[in-house]
Amino acid sequence: MAKLAPSLLSADFSKLGKEIDILEKGGADYVHLDVMDGIYVPNITFGAPVIKKIRGTTKLPFDVHLMVDRPERFIDDFIDAGSDIITVHPDASIHLHRTLQEIRNKGAKAGVSLNPSTPLDVLEYLMDDIDLILIMSVNPGFGGQSYIPAMTEKIMKLKDMIVKSGNDIILEVDGGIKLENAREIIDAGADLIVVGSGIFATDDVESRVKKFKELIA
Ligand code: DX5
Ligand code: ZN
Repeated sequence: MAKLAPSLLSADFSKLGKEIDILEKGGADYVHLDVMDGIYVPNITFGAPVIKKIRGTTKLPFDVHLMVDRPERFIDDFIDAGSDIITVHPDASIHLHRTLQEIRNKGAKAGVSLNPSTPLDVLEYLMDDIDLILIMSVNPGFGGQSYIPAMTEKIMKLKDMIVKSGNDIILEVDGGIKLENAREIIDAGADLIVVGSGIFATDDVESRVKKFKELIA
């Protein structure tokens, strides 16, 4: 069964603990944390100190998405903050293989995130070193963008690659996912969907989380 990772990017940053509590009540499986540095993407969000503070408010696993230039500089900080999964972008990390090994060696799951224009080939020699692959279905940097339809075929191709590799790799999809298209994305092969504005742009976040959970069940 597919799982749900609400993204805090569209949450109220003045009450993150409460927002996580509501997500948990609704049945969220992970908390997705979008770290942006204003260099790799044209936006700045939050870093390891904020994650460390909210870590104590929930037992849900933290799925940390680093949209950060040379993320290898910060692996220790994000491990120390309590990240369960750390995902990096190949074009941001100079020695991607080493970065992934470092994440694993330090006790977190290692993820690779591909932008819409990044081909799947970049994964070819890394399939034994990855726990999660994140397909960006919008360009990274902002919440509330529209799903790029060509990504459905990319998800299907990646699913095939993962099955052929024989490895236990989570296929995550992030960006523009709403109640209307979640089913299509899961049917294409997603194991884990990230939803930001599709969850927080409503007055009743808890029941929206429940709706997503019903839909993907
Ligand atoms: C975008 C982020 C996403 C974002 C998704 O750079 O990686 O996680 O929060 O937001 P929505 O669901 O609004 O597209
Ligand atoms: Zn994300």
